[in-house]
Amino acid sequence: METQLSWDESRAQDIIASKTGLEGPLLPILHELQETFGYVDARAVGLIAGALNVSRAEVFGTLSFYKDFKRQKPLGRTIKLCRAEACQARGAEDLAERFEQATGCRIDGGFHGGVEVETVYCLGNCALGPNALYDGEIFGALTDEALAALHARAAREGAAR
Ligand code: FES
Repeated sequence: METQLSWDESRAQDIIASKTGLEGPLLPILHELQETFGYVDARAVGLIAGALNVSRAEVFGTLSFYKDFKRQKPLGRTIKLCRAEACQARGAEDLAERFEQATGCRIDGGFHGGVEVETVYCLGNCALGPNALYDGEIFGALTDEALAALHARAAREGAAR
């Protein structure tokens, strides 16, 4: 199970400090903050700007440019469902449609019962599609039942946060 921490300034500072020596440190910092906390807190913007000696606007611009970065604490759990070509060829679109009908949960429609399902384009497991990513793990050859079970698990784990 994911162990995402609550916002912790000294932890965030450690993460930032560990990457300032990299070439192009901004994206690696943002990624690690998001992995650690589940989102990039607005309070990180000033810390990063100070550590990298860039403007807050520059940090904020990068943070808002990439859709993958979340700027608010997630309200629950996220399942990423691949709908790129190879997974489509293996039935991802029909799977997605049946899932929406069965659960009333709209894909890319935000949180519903503590779970959101987001479209992604390729998880690198094309031969075993359709694929979904949840909690750092790829679930391949998804059936209706497997996706429903994953969704139920995410709802349980989302409620337990
Ligand atoms: S197309 Fe879905 S994993 Fe590559």
